[in-house]
Amino acid sequence: MTVGVYPGSFDPFTVGHLDVLTNAAGLFDLVYVAVLHNVDKRPTFTVQERMEMIRNVLAAEKLDNVRCGTFDGLLVEYAKSVQATHIVRGLRATSDFEYEFQIDAVNRHLDNSLRTVYFMASPGHSFLSSSNVKEIGLWGGSIKGLVPEINEDIIRERLARK
Ligand code: PNS
Repeated sequence: MTVGVYPGSFDPFTVGHLDVLTNAAGLFDLVYVAVLHNVDKRPTFTVQERMEMIRNVLAAEKLDNVRCGTFDGLLVEYAKSVQATHIVRGLRATSDFEYEFQIDAVNRHLDNSLRTVYFMASPGHSFLSSSNVKEIGLWGGSIKGLVPEINEDIIRERLARK
């Protein structure tokens, strides 16, 4: 069985993330979305909120071969714990490359049996990031089409309370 891990902060999960995840779900038998639980990053949404929203999406999109988990510490250890052979990441623009290049080098140093596969963002998502969504939402702009519809109200209301 082929198992992939799609890690990230997902603060919050966007339609760009969904695009990558849908591609990964078509490639692997099983995919784990691994939500980083890292207080140092000062996320806007709690890990429980982020996981709940991702689970809403999995149910709505009928992504039956995808599970959602959380991890703390090294990604390679989490990948090992779920017997994953591959890490999944998305690439939007060349500006992502340097960052991903570094992450890949560190992960290879830690576990050279793991490989990362990358999906290019759909052209319409190349500008999209969780940070953009938060900035737009905090200032009362429309986040329609930027986050999965099922989570739109939750995210809008939550950002309005900040
Ligand atoms: O969506 P993000 O925040 O860009 O994802 C970054 C993530 C979670 C993939 C990366 O920070 C990570 O893997 N963190 C866990 C700690 C770790 O394993 N570090 C070594 C690789 S940099």
